[in-house]
Amino acid sequence: MENLKKYYITTPIYYVNDQPHIGHAYTTIVADVLARFYREKIGTENVYFLTGTDEHGAKIAESAAKAGIDPQKFTDMVSQKFQVTWQNLDIAYDQFIRTTDIQHQKIVQDILLKLKEAKTPQGQDVIYQAEYQGLYCVGCEKFILESELVEGLCPDHHKKPEQLAEQNWFFRLQDYLEIIAQKIKSEELKIYPDSRKNEVLGLLEKQNLPDFSISRSKKSVPWGIDLPWDETQKAYVWVDALSNYITALDYPDGEKFQKFWPADCQLMALDILKFHALYWPAILLALDLPLPKQLNIHGFFTINGQKMSKTLGNVIDPNELVKIYGAESTKYLILSQFSFGAESDIKVEDFPAKYNADLVNGLGNLVNRVTNMIEQYLGGEINLKAELETEFLQDLEIDLQSLKFRDALLKIWDLIQEANIFVDQNKPWLLSKSEKKEDQEKLKIVLEKLFSKLYNIAQALKPFMPEKSQEILAILSADKIQKPSEPLFKRLEN
Ligand code: MSP
Repeated sequence: MENLKKYYITTPIYYVNDQPHIGHAYTTIVADVLARFYREKIGTENVYFLTGTDEHGAKIAESAAKAGIDPQKFTDMVSQKFQVTWQNLDIAYDQFIRTTDIQHQKIVQDILLKLKEAKTPQGQDVIYQAEYQGLYCVGCEKFILESELVEGLCPDHHKKPEQLAEQNWFFRLQDYLEIIAQKIKSEELKIYPDSRKNEVLGLLEKQNLPDFSISRSKKSVPWGIDLPWDETQKAYVWVDALSNYITALDYPDGEKFQKFWPADCQLMALDILKFHALYWPAILLALDLPLPKQLNIHGFFTINGQKMSKTLGNVIDPNELVKIYGAESTKYLILSQFSFGAESDIKVEDFPAKYNADLVNGLGNLVNRVTNMIEQYLGGEINLKAELETEFLQDLEIDLQSLKFRDALLKIWDLIQEANIFVDQNKPWLLSKSEKKEDQEKLKIVLEKLFSKLYNIAQALKPFMPEKSQEILAILSADKIQKPSEPLFKRLEN
């Protein structure tokens, strides 16, 4: 951390054929918490947080056609929904990229041309032409093996894949597999958690990974970026999409690119690990660029064991949660439900009870009680600086650096509970009634201790709940401390 000079963090760019849901929200919330944490540590100007939308390809074109809207209008509309959702959740990204941005499209074409000229370490052309054939699932936007089908259908989309055969351009992945494996093993490219790293190494060991195509015929996929040297072809949507992480920085000459590449943290769920751990490093190696430092892979959330999707009608809209709980509480409820990396069912039915217990009765009540007692018994005056619980705060920093968001929140809520118990045990309301000098002194010490605890809690909450944390710190730093006129968290009605 001491020598960390800059921090570049990315989320996947989300497909606009789907509405933003709680799965997309999870990755984006995690990125937001980390970005806020590092901004405090190394300065706002040294952190870059990128998110955006992936807008080309057969899948999007199909969705637009189904909606009876021109694809550009369609992507404008859905991309806007993502931006509004992130605004509602108070996500402080530095850039929102769209793959239909002119600048992105132009740089992708430059990248493709560079790849076309590049040679592999074995001296072969990186890009070559060949016949492509196989079963293609439009939902996954990828070719799928016969053996992966369940009763002839794509296991994720429950749809029959199409038989495709066409003349395409290919990327010679084969020539990069060994280097990639070695970089993953040596942790030059870290993959977290270990289980995912081993998964990738397992894939690499098989050695029969096919090359991947970087283009599709215009006939089969008309909605995309033109391949600069072959007018019959469009860029394959994954090459277009993965490039966003450098086109956003104005690769190759942009100042942002010089400053921020390589990425320090690329977040995603395991569904797109293969693209990021194999294709993406191979493309970067072919461009002679450093690889991202770390890929961080979280679990895939299901609803009653099923994938969330519009088709299945089980999508949880984060905007609805924000309406009920507010942005910061929604983020808290989502992050505290399970550990990063765990695969699990999302249980929004548990949110109301948790909101009342942890936020209304836990943190909110503590703030009310402590500030009320300082106001009533000490005339609002605490003449000391809060004592920093350095060990506790450092411990939380380590949790954040190692993506243990849930653990960090549990520790903060332990401290909240501890403080509430401390109030109950010391009963300042009784001390305040006593005439004894030692009781008056004890009252002061008890309230000073609580003041310090609250201060540390607010500090710890900064990356998770920037506004609430600020509210608490503002109350504590006022000349005269007063109980807030409104509770920090409104009790849920009924
Ligand atoms: N467009 C590609 C990514 C290109 S990145 C160069 C894509 N888009 S997506 O809309 O399907 O988003 C996938 C990502 O969204 C996952 O990797 C994850 O970050 C997040 N999630 C989407 N659904 C999710 C769950 N049900 N659970 C957890 N995360 C989920 O793939």
